Amino acid sequence: MLNIGILISGRGSNLQAIIDTCESGKIPAKVAVVISNVASAGGLERAKKHNIPAIVFEPNNFKDKNTYELEIVKELKKHGVELVCLAGYMRIVGQVLLEHFPHRIVNIHPSLLPSFPGLHAQQQALDHGVTVTGCTVHFVDQGCDTGPIIIQSAVPVKENDTEETLSERILQQEHHIYPIAIEFIAKDKLKIEGRRVKLK
Ligand code: GRF
Repeated sequence: MLNIGILISGRGSNLQAIIDTCESGKIPAKVAVVISNVASAGGLERAKKHNIPAIVFEPNNFKDKNTYELEIVKELKKHGVELVCLAGYMRIVGQVLLEHFPHRIVNIHPSLLPSFPGLHAQQQALDHGVTVTGCTVHFVDQGCDTGPIIIQSAVPVKENDTEETLSERILQQEHHIYPIAIEFIAKDKLKIEGRRVKLK
């Protein structure tokens, strides 16, 4: 059983999708702890409803990023976490987390990377005029949404889409592919070769 730690900053719908998949018994994984950098994050309540420890660490309460991340690492290790999933975690992961969890941190991003990294990916896609966008689960490295790609799902852009309508359709796909990526990792099916992630 793979112990997962999930980092959030907001409503936690991807967190919910992961919890639900784990609880259904479809994948050999369990959400062991949820950590938020925002005290009001809705995802914390979702975790509590499932009796999952829900912890808040606010970066401003720490002297620097390394100290903040070290506290997160300690909490993750305390719960035996082997895989860290970022699910709407609105901070760039730093050296401390990366060093403690090499190739064991994954993220979901609402675009077909490498297009539209960073904030407001759905609006970026609309502004650029692409006809297809989507979402990506990738390993996290020191960059912003730059790590090796595990799985992607394409979502067509409709003529009259707004940021909200497009985000909603992409989100459905996020909830579909994030658990699949975690299943691959929980079943030890992936190997990373340079930028490419292959099935063993
Ligand atoms: C998702 O669109 C995710 O791709 C992005 O932030 C959003 C988080 O949504 N990184 P939620 O908190 O999982 O509902």
